[in-house]
Amino acid sequence: MGDTQYLHIRTFGCQMNVHDSEQIEKLLQGMGYKWTDDESSADLIIINTCGIREKAEQKVYSLLGRLKYLKKVKPGLIIGVGGCVAQQNGHEFLTRVPHLDLVFGTHAIHRLPEMVEGIRNSGCRVVDTAFRDSVQSLGIVAPPRNGAVSAYITIMQGCDNFCSYCVVPYLRGREESRSVDDIIREIECLKNHGVREITLLGQNVNSYGNTFHGGSDFPALLRAIGKVDGIERIRFTTSHPKDLSDELMDCFASVGTLCEHIHLPVQSGSDYVLERMNRKYTSGDYLKRVEQLRDVCPHISITSDFIVGFPGESDEDFQRTLDVMERVRFDNSFSFKYSFRPGTAAATMDGHVDERIKSERLSVLQSLQNIHTQLSNQADEGKVKEVLVEGFSKNDRTDVTGRTRTNKIVNFRGNIDMVGTVVSVKIIEGYAHSLRGEATAEEREKKHVG
Ligand code: 5AD
Ligand code: SF4
Repeated sequence: MGDTQYLHIRTFGCQMNVHDSEQIEKLLQGMGYKWTDDESSADLIIINTCGIREKAEQKVYSLLGRLKYLKKVKPGLIIGVGGCVAQQNGHEFLTRVPHLDLVFGTHAIHRLPEMVEGIRNSGCRVVDTAFRDSVQSLGIVAPPRNGAVSAYITIMQGCDNFCSYCVVPYLRGREESRSVDDIIREIECLKNHGVREITLLGQNVNSYGNTFHGGSDFPALLRAIGKVDGIERIRFTTSHPKDLSDELMDCFASVGTLCEHIHLPVQSGSDYVLERMNRKYTSGDYLKRVEQLRDVCPHISITSDFIVGFPGESDEDFQRTLDVMERVRFDNSFSFKYSFRPGTAAATMDGHVDERIKSERLSVLQSLQNIHTQLSNQADEGKVKEVLVEGFSKNDRTDVTGRTRTNKIVNFRGNIDMVGTVVSVKIIEGYAHSLRGEATAEEREKKHVG
């Protein structure tokens, strides 16, 4: 390429999508594109979409609408859409959005350079939404930008669970795990770029290795990664409660670098709703797992996802969800109003719940969660926590920010020497969304903090 060409990516949705975008950026950098935060100066704009809820999909169309004027003032601009909505809508996208050049599905990321080159040379519009048996983009090593110390790594793709509300199995295809060797190789490479913490990603990491026919499983993978020198912290997400084995729970006690946090979506506390969701566990099974986790690892932080207003959810069903929240006292959670997704089993169920009731239930649930989160944060006051410092705080440049092993954000006075290291921090105050701390006297002396 001649003059410098600039790239801008907009990412919607989950960590999986954030990581896909990192890989997209890495691939396009290989073609010479440089990153820009400003979409109006970009020569290539990629929108990485999420189709999990209807609202996410609407946002993509409104963003694309806004970009129309940019294409007018800069005809050479290439606009591409990837991810779940692209997978779902394929060719229809090009018809609906005339200024769109490229649509690539969840299995086509590795083909991006070739496709972009084709558009640059021929000006033709391109669509690739084919499903592939083995996803070649999984192996793209994408160290985080700006020398960050924490990185994602995809260990498996797709999902075979078919929860009745969810589009993921249709849009990301069948479950497939990467080999242990491949994963370890990627981790070694990330480590050489300064990464100290890795988060293993998959729709349901607990079923990692199911496609190996008797080979390695998730606990074995964790133990193998636990032996990689220089990786100080391991996290993983997401876990399905039905596949949370005793052996996996034991890893919280036996793998020293595995952080004491599990994201374990319960979705609902009503057995009737759970069955209709096709989750394959009862609220009793879930509570038992939580008890076991806390036996193995007493200070483990547990977070969850909830859906309110699933078809057929009565006031009593919703009350059961609140009861489970009370029983578990989650450290934090994400909660959503049920969103109708065409093509899923739930879409054909009866008993769709009124939007107003969904909103009311969501607000009740979130208020209760806020209380529990604040209590959990306050319970840390006075304790000394290990914080992996990620960088300077956005609000106050004399503060650094990082996370505890339990995945809580901590801000405290610090300096550049602390970035990328684990610092012992005494927690002074627990707020609604973060903790305020102070580096211990030894740390302050070591790192010359006044
Ligand atoms: N409506 C609302 N929330 C949904 N999720 C998945 N599908 C839907 C849907 N159709 C939520 C679940 C899942 C999280 C990633 O998104 O809670 O755990
Ligand atoms: Fe969707 Fe269920 Fe698979 Fe999660 S486990 S991605 S909710 S089908």
